[in-house]
Amino acid sequence: MTRITTANGYDNKDNLLILIDSPASPKLQELLTDDEWTQVKNAEDQKIDCCLLPESNRAKFVLFLPKHEDSNRRKELVRRAAAKAIKTFHKIKATTVFIKNFGEIDFSLECAEALALSNYQFLKYFKNKKEKKHALENIVLDEQSVNAAEANALQYLTEGTCEARTLINEPLSFLTATQLSEEIKRMGKEAGFSVEVFEKEKIEEMKMGGLLAVNRGSFTPPTFNIMEWKPENAKNSKPVILVGKGIVFDTGGLSLKPTANSMDFMKADMGGAATVIGTMYAVSKAKLPIHIVGLVPATDNRPGNNAYAPGDVIKMYSGSTVEVLNTDAEGRMVLADALHYAKQYNPELVFDFATLTGAAAVLLGGQGISLMGNAAAEVKSQMIESGYRVHERLLELPMWDEFGEMMKSDIADLKNIGGRMAGAITAGKFLEHFTDYPWLHLDIAGNAFKHKSDSYRGKNGTGVGVRLMFDFFRNYMKNI
Ligand code: BES
Ligand code: ZN
Ligand code: ZN
Repeated sequence: MTRITTANGYDNKDNLLILIDSPASPKLQELLTDDEWTQVKNAEDQKIDCCLLPESNRAKFVLFLPKHEDSNRRKELVRRAAAKAIKTFHKIKATTVFIKNFGEIDFSLECAEALALSNYQFLKYFKNKKEKKHALENIVLDEQSVNAAEANALQYLTEGTCEARTLINEPLSFLTATQLSEEIKRMGKEAGFSVEVFEKEKIEEMKMGGLLAVNRGSFTPPTFNIMEWKPENAKNSKPVILVGKGIVFDTGGLSLKPTANSMDFMKADMGGAATVIGTMYAVSKAKLPIHIVGLVPATDNRPGNNAYAPGDVIKMYSGSTVEVLNTDAEGRMVLADALHYAKQYNPELVFDFATLTGAAAVLLGGQGISLMGNAAAEVKSQMIESGYRVHERLLELPMWDEFGEMMKSDIADLKNIGGRMAGAITAGKFLEHFTDYPWLHLDIAGNAFKHKSDSYRGKNGTGVGVRLMFDFFRNYMKNI
């Protein structure tokens, strides 16, 4: 994990990431040799957005801060520029990079965030891990730019995001539901949140019919995971609950998915769970004064054993019955039980995160997350603001009754699919049935996993949602 610290000035051996608006700063000239100074001047003349000044054993990377009238957009452009700069530091095997700001607006934190996230690797399964590992270990921020508390918070946030990525990147051959629970316990110990795991027997006793139905095709048992961070100085009296879809692999079940471009990355179908676990980790490590509970129902979805079949009617944990017309709409089955479980907390607010529908991925092409629910307009707009700040943007979809009508069954209280139209919305309406508190649903199907590298988000598991919720909580606490 990349360490993010602060220091009072750098020394001559440090690799530098120098942030400037233009080469006009006299301070910059002091820092550079005459040759380097000419190089920077030439770079700007040629409209190059950055310029590398190599010395024998270190790099001074001058980053001309991109401009944009929208401040959130500008932050994102800066993060992306820093993510490009890291390639140079990797090439020269830099172990430490000091970020020095000469810009009018200080973007040190954004740059540190992008460097730390771009430095992430998932090497567990390579034979020659050591050779592949990036040398970069430390990102040092100028004390004059950033205080130690901010640097620490960023450290915890990037750790939580990278933990979420690793959970997503782990394949089913390792990450069964049982193993996911082991990982949650480990992370709870590291970060300080408490963990309780319900095993299959308990889940049966509780009659969590949705989770048990999806697990019927599996060769390994389901788990139901409860995490809690309850600091004494919590600002909220009723907990905020985070529910995450924990399908550790989705074959589609008997309604089998086609393999190509569809089933091959379904180890990422616990992306919602990864958001929740990564957020619990970051919030607890940063000791944010907010009482939160994480709920993760976990299983794989397979056609084996006594798999649930299209047409089956399932009695859910809430007592409602569901006619299963497609076993591939399994996420809502397990989430429904967790959403019902959440009621006993009398929660202030409940979020669920899920790689729920292909329709949501198609709608926003991975550029945003669809948002639905009945939480207060103020909460929604705070979420949307956070989304712009961290570039995990949200788009609200309607909750119109007509979409709920589409989920009515002839023989049960609900059916689990609503037809070809408005698939992301009907999925949300299904979930709504199991809520009785202020609630928001985030469909991250297009965001949890990237097939192509996407700047500091990287390739494969992205850890989406952790940065969003961390930002949301830090602001939400100020307002309660
Ligand atoms: N896990 C999938 C959704 C998904 C699709 C996630 C693409 C990530 C990328 C989910 O369980 C699913 O299969 N949903 C079906 C629902 C349909 C049967 C109503 C879908 O979207 O096709
Ligand atoms: Zn599915
Ligand atoms: Zn799924």
